[in-house]
Amino acid sequence: MNGYKIKSFRINQDTNESIEIKIAELCEVNYGYYIWPCSIKMARFIHQNRNGIFNLKEANLLEIGSGTSLPAIIARKFCNLNRVIITDHLEQNSKLFDLIKKTLNLNKIDLLNRLDDENSNGICLEHFDWSDLDQNFFKKLPKIDFVIGSDVFFDSAMFEDLIVAISFLIEFINKNLEFYTTYEIRSFNSYLKLLHLIEKYSLNFIKLEIPEGDHSELSGDEMEIKINSHEIVLLKIFKKI
Ligand SMILES: C[S@@+](CC[C@H](N)C(=O)[O-])C[C@H]1O[C@@H](n2cnc3c(N)ncnc32)[C@H](O)[C@@H]1O
Repeated sequence: MNGYKIKSFRINQDTNESIEIKIAELCEVNYGYYIWPCSIKMARFIHQNRNGIFNLKEANLLEIGSGTSLPAIIARKFCNLNRVIITDHLEQNSKLFDLIKKTLNLNKIDLLNRLDDENSNGICLEHFDWSDLDQNFFKKLPKIDFVIGSDVFFDSAMFEDLIVAISFLIEFINKNLEFYTTYEIRSFNSYLKLLHLIEKYSLNFIKLEIPEGDHSELSGDEMEIKINSHEIVLLKIFKKI
């Protein structure tokens, strides 16, 4: 695969050792080929909650609009979870599949062929388009406990499709499903639109604290420069009771 570069992130362990995570980016114009600041925030959140929220060995985690997939890689490497499933709309983004495979290789993570594969080191990679809900995809999904999506609300014309997809997952896969999303406030009107849609589909949300940029936990090249663009909020979205 030509034209890619590798970004490195260092994650310090409690033992004073550090683990390097490598993420491949592709130098071409496409939203999915770059690590967005929201993804770094999400990765930090997951890492900081590896012994809390994301320490559930029976739980399955689905990342949507994964792009370069940093949060899913952190979840697989550091959290005690069952399945981690990476998704994006791969057919419209065909080189992304190869890019993600490269990242899995770099981090010595196996790519599983089946969602029910027992290999605990593995990750599944699936096509999922939130604007074109595919019954076959939903049929093969295990019970999903967590959905994560970083910078997936980037085009307000797509917000409703995505909220409908989340409502669908909650209704048909797991009523207790929790959706964590990092959202960059590029426009306040768009943010209000998102909050309105959450209400419209009888969902609830909590704005969570974003962990500080703590260099001792997850750090990498150019990261802080990118993060300082707009405010990024972390929302937990779930079914209203
Ligand atoms: C701004 S990028 C964020 C990528 C990555 N999550 C990150 O934060 O670095 C938006 C991602 O959403 C994906 N995407 C856009 N429309 C989509 C759709 N309808 N269904 C699934 N994924 C979609 C793109 O391919 C891209 O990977």
